[in-house]
Amino acid sequence: MGAGHTRFGVLDAGPRALTRTAVDAAFASVDRGADRGDVREGFLATLGFGGHQIGNSSAALAEEAGLVGVPVTRVENACASGGFALRAAVGAIAAGSSPLTLVVGVEKMTDVTNARRRYWLGVSGDTEWERLAGLTFAGVYGLIAARYFAEHGDASEALVEVATKNHENGALNPNAHFQKLVSRAEVRAAPRVARPLGLYDCCPVSDGAAALLLAPPELAHRYTDTPVYVDGTGAGTDFLAVQERKELTRFRATHRAAHDAFRSAGWNRSDVSLLEVHDCFTIAELLALEDLGFAGPGEAPALTLSGATRRTGRLPVNPDGGLKAKGHPIGATGVSQAFEVFLQLRGQAGPRQVPHAEHALAHNVGGAGATAAVSLFSVG
Ligand code: COA
Repeated sequence: MGAGHTRFGVLDAGPRALTRTAVDAAFASVDRGADRGDVREGFLATLGFGGHQIGNSSAALAEEAGLVGVPVTRVENACASGGFALRAAVGAIAAGSSPLTLVVGVEKMTDVTNARRRYWLGVSGDTEWERLAGLTFAGVYGLIAARYFAEHGDASEALVEVATKNHENGALNPNAHFQKLVSRAEVRAAPRVARPLGLYDCCPVSDGAAALLLAPPELAHRYTDTPVYVDGTGAGTDFLAVQERKELTRFRATHRAAHDAFRSAGWNRSDVSLLEVHDCFTIAELLALEDLGFAGPGEAPALTLSGATRRTGRLPVNPDGGLKAKGHPIGATGVSQAFEVFLQLRGQAGPRQVPHAEHALAHNVGGAGATAAVSLFSVG
């Protein structure tokens, strides 16, 4: 029914103010208005980065949303918290417990020291074999990229294409952390963070929040003539430590999430007109195209280099700039993906509008693929 978003980036506001701004924007976006008294259930996606409010943050959301008294459940599945919170809200609506349900994702990441930032970025990986051994997420995805190159050949140019494409899209998004174009030469020449990945292969560390208002389908037209429907959801998990997995270049959690989402919606891959995928690192966009079933193993680089995933291509991917350029405030990301879908399917995405946007997929990954959620949306 409604969706709201703050700017993503290095912001002065704290998590409470970010939450309030996103929730107020979501209410303001409902075409025929919505009464806060109709909200009977809420879900909060946040990692609680930096330890601002380590526990019981749901009560803080209820306060900032003007909903004290309403039950709110915090969902913490690392970077996939937002996708899982949306899925939980859809389940609550299906169970008939709420006429209007609020989903909020928020993260404040930039007001901590570098050492503390490294600590909080690491908490979502395996503790014993990864974090305490000094492996960062850039490091894990660097290993994954190196393995992908070993299996399928050097895909560096496809990674460059992902970075330049997503920066080009982000430059059209007033909420994006980075609203600037980067050239292929700049991407190639950037300092390496974890070989083969360089600075422009990484998402930034961002502050931000996003919010959604959902109603049961039979009540949708009470609020708007153009509701966006959640036709299917799916989710999955994998071994937390990548060393436990049989393969590095496929995320089984994404496979399962996509399989269940497509089955529950009764859709085919060919129905999808745009994708929001979890490109925390550029290699992750290639893996997503393969794991979601839009390219075979090793085929995502060619698909990407063909221009198909550009805004004007046949399968637009991350028209909002993705995590790469829009930014990645951990708990907010999955909710932000649904915000973009809401705009795109209603034809309200302005200069970054994808033509003929009727069916969209959002894909949200936690850590290095240990959790994943997929949702499928259509416009009524
Ligand atoms: N892409 C493009 N530019 C970036 C960037 C990124 N990902 N990260 C930082 N920058 C820019 C900054 O805007 C700044 O530009 P300026 O000098 O023009 O102001 C410059 O690079 C230095 O910024 P700084 O914050 O000092 O960079 P850093 O070296 O501390 O951090 C990374 C860079 C890539 C290490 C950091 O962004 C990072 O850790 N990203 C991954 C986050 C992550 O793991 N999330 C979870 C995913 S699973």
